[in-house]
Amino acid sequence: MPDTPAHVPSHVAIIMDGNGRWAKLRGLPRIEGHRRGVETVRNVIDAAKELGVRYLTLYAFSVENWKRPQDEVGALMSLLEYFLKRETATLVKNKIRLRTIGRTQDLPEPVRRQLDAAIAATAQFTEHTLVLALNYGSRTEVVDAARAYAAAVAAGTVNLNNDSWETFARHLYTGDLPDPDLVIRTSGEYRVSNFLLLQAAYAEFVFTPVLWPDFSKTDFAAAVETYAKRERRFGRTSEQLKSAPCL
Ligand code: FPP
Repeated sequence: MPDTPAHVPSHVAIIMDGNGRWAKLRGLPRIEGHRRGVETVRNVIDAAKELGVRYLTLYAFSVENWKRPQDEVGALMSLLEYFLKRETATLVKNKIRLRTIGRTQDLPEPVRRQLDAAIAATAQFTEHTLVLALNYGSRTEVVDAARAYAAAVAAGTVNLNNDSWETFARHLYTGDLPDPDLVIRTSGEYRVSNFLLLQAAYAEFVFTPVLWPDFSKTDFAAAVETYAKRERRFGRTSEQLKSAPCL
């Protein structure tokens, strides 16, 4: 597959927010908002592939989300299980590999079973990757990475006299994934909420007031368009980039 054109982000990560408010505005239970949110997930996966985005990461359940009412947590887990059961065939048809980041070992067994099946069924694809952040939080990720790093130091596979960010980053859940180029948050909130804090160090951010269930393919394309108009400098000056854009 050719490289992604420069104006298209290779990796888009999304904080899907606003399901509860969408439902409340309509006098519906919060879970209806999540249900509609799953439809948006389907559309956005399609839109990302159509635009040539190679990696799409969706923040589907955070480590903090366990604090929600038990029935909402249960409903979210059921939705996830249902989504995986129903969508695996489409992922295979569209040649999209599924990956996860987060402490998925702590998810309910039926969800883990569906995840394992979907991951196995799509493992051979390389052009497009869907990453679900599940039971994910950046701070727990750093704790887990530090533990793995310490083990690697003890085993002698990492030398502390000669380490680097790249060496450490390989121990994050995202060790074999590129950093996100664009992070989108829906619903008019301006927070990062413990999402990819280290990986998004140089990402562009787009915040939109649209609630996640209403977020359309056109909204996704508009966010990508906004990204395309930004100048990413990675610490350099504008003049340096103009004279040697590939430095
Ligand atoms: C935030 O909205 C959304 C979530 C915590 C869950 C997102 C889950 C889905 C879109 C459905 C399941 C996902 C997949 C991948 C099948 P909120 O409830 O915090 O909204 P609010 O801020 O308006 O209350």
